[in-house]
Amino acid sequence: MERLQKFLAHAGIGSRRSCEELILQGKVKINGKVVTKLGTKVDPDVDRIEVNNKPIEKEEQNIYILLNKPDGYVTTVKDPQGRPTVIDLLKDINQRVYPVGRLDYETEGLLILTNDGQLAFRLTHPKYKINKVYEVLVKGHPDNKALEQLRNGIELGDGLTEPARVKILKLMKNSTLLEVTIYEGRNRQVRRMCKAVNHPVLNLKRVQVGPIKLGKLPKGSYRLLTSEEVKQLRKSIGLR
Ligand code: URA
Repeated sequence: MERLQKFLAHAGIGSRRSCEELILQGKVKINGKVVTKLGTKVDPDVDRIEVNNKPIEKEEQNIYILLNKPDGYVTTVKDPQGRPTVIDLLKDINQRVYPVGRLDYETEGLLILTNDGQLAFRLTHPKYKINKVYEVLVKGHPDNKALEQLRNGIELGDGLTEPARVKILKLMKNSTLLEVTIYEGRNRQVRRMCKAVNHPVLNLKRVQVGPIKLGKLPKGSYRLLTSEEVKQLRKSIGLR
C-alpha cells in the first residue's frame, strides 16, 4: 500500500504537491469514488485510480535479469513447437520481460532478460559492437592456422566474420576448450565458425556480455543485476 499522492507523483502526473492539489480538488477517484483525503492508501495492483476520469497506470519499473540458461530451452517467449522457454525458468518474476538476443536451444549460459526496450535494442544492434564471450568445447585440437582463421575472419556464406578473440583455455585428449569473443551476433555464429575450420562445437556456453559476467550462478538459476551492473551495462552502450 502506498500514499495516493506518492503513487500519482511516481506515475508521472506531477509533483507531490500538485498531486495533493488534484486530490483536494476532488479530481481523483479510487475504484470509482472521489477521494479528497490526503494520505489515503492505495494498492496499485488492486485499486483502480483515475485522475480527471482517466485511469492511471502504475509506472513500470525496469527490471534486469541475469539467467544461466541451461541446454534444452528456447530463447523466445513462446515456442510454436511447445518446447520449454527461458521464461518458464523465471518463477517469481511477475513483470513481462524479453530475452536480449538469442542463444540456441542447445547453448548454455548468460542471458539477460529485461523490459527495458532501449537497452535491449542497443545491446543487440551491431553498431554497438558489444563483446560476447563464449567458452567453446570443440572437437579435436585446432592448430595455429585454424585459430588465426577464427581470429581474422571466416566466410560463412552471409559475409566474412569480423575479427574475433580466440584463446585456448584447456587441451584435452580429443577436444579443446576455447574462449571465443565475438562482437556481432549472427545466427549460430560460433558454431558455424568452428565448423568452418573443421572443429565442430561439442558444447557452447556464454560467459559474458559487455561488462556482465556469468560468474558462479548455477545452471537454470537467475538473479537481478545489481544497480552497479546496470550502470556499467548502460554505460557500455552509451546510455546514462
Ligand atoms: N553462437 C552460436 O553458434 N550459438 C549461440 O547460441 C550463440 C552464439
